[in-house]
Amino acid sequence: MRSSVASAALLVTCLVVAAAARSTGRTTLSVLSFGAAGNGVTDDAQALVAAWQVACRVPRATVLVLPSGHRFLLSPVTLQGPCSAKLTLQIDGTVLAPPEMGSWPKPRRPLQWLNFKWLQGFSIQGTGAVDGGQQSASPANASQTSTGTGHWHSPGVKPTLIRFYNSFNVSVRNIRISNSPQCHLKFDSSGGIRVKNVTISSPGDSPNTDGIHLQNTKDVEIRSSTIGCGDDCVSIQTGCSNVHMKNVVCNPGHGISLGGLGKDNSLACVSDVVAENIVVQNALYGVRIKTWQGGVGSVRNITFSNVRVANVATPIAIDQFYCDRGGARCANRTGAVAIAGVAYRRVVGTYTFQPLRLACSDARPCTGVTMLDVRLSPAAAGGTVAPLCWNSYGEARGTIIQPLSVGCLQRSNGYAMPLTQPFNYTC
Ligand SMILES: *[C@@H]1O[C@H](CO)[C@@H](O)[C@H](O)[C@H]1NC(C)=O
Ligand SMILES: *[C@@H]1O[C@H](CO)[C@@H](O)[C@H](O)[C@H]1NC(C)=O
Ligand SMILES: *[C@@H]1O[C@H](CO)[C@@H](O)[C@H](O)[C@H]1NC(C)=O
Ligand SMILES: *[C@@H]1O[C@H](CO)[C@@H](O)[C@H](O)[C@H]1NC(C)=O
Ligand SMILES: *[C@@H]1O[C@H](CO)[C@@H](O)[C@H](O)[C@H]1NC(C)=O
Repeated sequence: MRSSVASAALLVTCLVVAAAARSTGRTTLSVLSFGAAGNGVTDDAQALVAAWQVACRVPRATVLVLPSGHRFLLSPVTLQGPCSAKLTLQIDGTVLAPPEMGSWPKPRRPLQWLNFKWLQGFSIQGTGAVDGGQQSASPANASQTSTGTGHWHSPGVKPTLIRFYNSFNVSVRNIRISNSPQCHLKFDSSGGIRVKNVTISSPGDSPNTDGIHLQNTKDVEIRSSTIGCGDDCVSIQTGCSNVHMKNVVCNPGHGISLGGLGKDNSLACVSDVVAENIVVQNALYGVRIKTWQGGVGSVRNITFSNVRVANVATPIAIDQFYCDRGGARCANRTGAVAIAGVAYRRVVGTYTFQPLRLACSDARPCTGVTMLDVRLSPAAAGGTVAPLCWNSYGEARGTIIQPLSVGCLQRSNGYAMPLTQPFNYTC
């Protein structure tokens, strides 16, 4: 039965493909030709997979369209390559996750909803939306998440909305992504990633809803995008290098974050990250680097420039004592992921708690931390604390933080401080 449906679809496709290819030189397929209902009620996952399998094999540029004016309900799907290059998924309609997917009981609950893997030269674009359907979590609901009782049937990891694995030369443009149960857009073990003009939105109180999450991914450009969520705006994890963010607005959320790195004494390597022309509003942090004690490896060559903050609790943070729970995990250890070469240039705006917190490791102080023209003032009178600088070496120029002791960054040989232990980057 299913195979006859599939072969009928294939036949239709061949005709459609031939017609489209003749007129434009690129092939356009619609999921509607593969039996998708697009009514927001019927599960269109099978139709999408059938369409994908055909689109994937068409040589030359192919566009697989989810047309506007339709709502495509999809159960979790994996769309995998290898496919012919220049395949585009054009989302003009709305793609919907099953309701309450984030609280499905564990055996059924997927790790990701739209799972793309093994693709090269692939794009997602369009004027449509991808909606995770997660109800906004009230603080009460959020606390139920951690206790694993009540509304959320079982604790543990909730699905990432869109995930790319082992994919190269991927671009995601123009779409809106909202209401994920967890991370919205994740790239894992990938490279050559471009995200542009994307809007991500989830409530500020939705737990663990990172906007864009990068791990083991190189050569990334995130531009002209607006991200609001309940966790990190952009989260950069180990194995990432050459990451460039430009013209990104984060509101609300936890700001741009490198880490937590080095958990459970692991190796962490992050280098060559630039975030420029960034706006962070109504957030816990502005730009942050967080590492666990006991890790190895390094965070190197990081630049934050032209960062405007408003109503941010702590705009600038390096925390080498990061720990997301109490107890033995957080005991002091001697090793640390080294942090070397972090520049803050023109970070300006208002904070609600502490303008700057540089808490670096006793074993591996932060070196080459430079500040140029950092101007932060309290959003309101009272209730704030003074900046902290612990084991941070570097240089501050043209810096006006109220109130800031000029000796915040310790100078030693200018930028670099000779380390007490032999320094091995490992990375
Ligand atoms: C950005 O995306 C929106 C929504 O899809 C679209 O309307 C707009 O034209 C895009 N802007 C650019 C410059 O592509
Ligand atoms: C919290 O969960 C309950 C179900 O237990 C739901 O009815 C309510 O709408 C949720 N609150 C919010 C703000 O979504
Ligand atoms: C990625 O794109 C670049 C430039 O368009 C090209 O040179 C390179 O071969 C592509 N790499 C892969 C793995 O597709
Ligand atoms: C620092 O990172 C930037 C951005 O990736 C790169 O252009 C530059 O060459 C790097 N500098 C060093 C010394 O590695
Ligand atoms: C760990 O080290 C920091 C900095 O030296 C110190 O403030 C803190 O009290 C120590 N914590 C424990 C549990 O020893």
